[in-house]
Amino acid sequence: MSRQTQAIIHADALLHNFKSLAAIAPSSQSMAVVKADAYGHGAVNVARILQHVSSQFAVAIIEEAIALRDAGISAPVVVLEGAHQAKECQMAFQHNCILVMHCEEQLQWLNNCPENQRPHIWLKVDSGMHRLGFAISDIEDMTKKYRHLLSEQTVIATHFACADDVDNGFTASQLSAFKRVADAIGLPTSVANSPATVNWPASRNAWNRLGVGVYGGAVSTANNVGVEIYPAMTLRSSILAVRTIAAGEGVGYGQTWVASKPSKIATVGIGYADGYPRHCKNKTPVMVRGKRAFLAGRVSMDMITIDVTHIDNVSVGDEVELWGQNVPIQEVAACADTIDYELMTRVSQRVPRIVKYL
Ligand SMILES: Cc1ncc(COP(=O)(O)O)c(C=O)c1O
Repeated sequence: MSRQTQAIIHADALLHNFKSLAAIAPSSQSMAVVKADAYGHGAVNVARILQHVSSQFAVAIIEEAIALRDAGISAPVVVLEGAHQAKECQMAFQHNCILVMHCEEQLQWLNNCPENQRPHIWLKVDSGMHRLGFAISDIEDMTKKYRHLLSEQTVIATHFACADDVDNGFTASQLSAFKRVADAIGLPTSVANSPATVNWPASRNAWNRLGVGVYGGAVSTANNVGVEIYPAMTLRSSILAVRTIAAGEGVGYGQTWVASKPSKIATVGIGYADGYPRHCKNKTPVMVRGKRAFLAGRVSMDMITIDVTHIDNVSVGDEVELWGQNVPIQEVAACADTIDYELMTRVSQRVPRIVKYL
């Protein structure tokens, strides 16, 4: 390999984060959400690392579940969007997947499956997010009408819109609306994502679905959440050129950064084609030689330029951390007007994922 651009995946952080989040909900079972290639960390990598602590996994679509099966992961997989087409019901059965049913069309597809080839299902309730799920007013009738499709593994699930925000009362109102119908139906429940697991104890039910927190993402607007989580990805690259420019010279496309004094500019081998956000503004932090340096000029497709005037001895080949232990991904996300979830999931396939086991 020539270019030193890599996403280092920290197995110890993944294990620590999952176990810590699971430990604050000892009466629940917890599953790792590994959709979108495990939020960019590599679904097969992550499932292999977590398979002894996460007894099930969750993905968004059946293709993601089948990719886990092809890699030899045997734990049950919950498919959070359920079937997009009727044929996926039988695929789910063949691959030991649990389909989340969020609308009556899906239940009819399942009903049309041969009785001995129906996968286990969960039922999703729309408790206020208004994205997927049966209406609160319909779910009891649906459960009665399709009782023959339920099994001992059926769970009633819902999803929160604002669980990271400890000051937002909407989560409590979603919870109480959901609890009313779930109590009436009497099946096990799954409510909490990782922010809810941390912030809303009442949401820790039979199954918690742990996503971003496992990867070291932000789970709470509160400062002290009582659980330590660490970044599971370090995105790093290296310097491929260093030059000195005079005051008044502009750098990069559109010359959006202009040197106010003679400046040393380093060019780094990562760009928006690798998933480093083009929207990152001038002054987005990176780490070089143990010091913070800052983006100077627009992000190009394959390169960025950083101002390293204040750092001695910067040379070609020096490592640059784009995010990780030293540069919080949330800080970079804020500089690009987005969230850590998006940055993680957008690291492109051009960037090799290197798993480190300590
Ligand atoms: C239905 C569902 N459950 C759980 C999760 C995991 O959420 P988080 O990554 O916030 O922990 C997601 C993620 O978007 C989801 O869509």
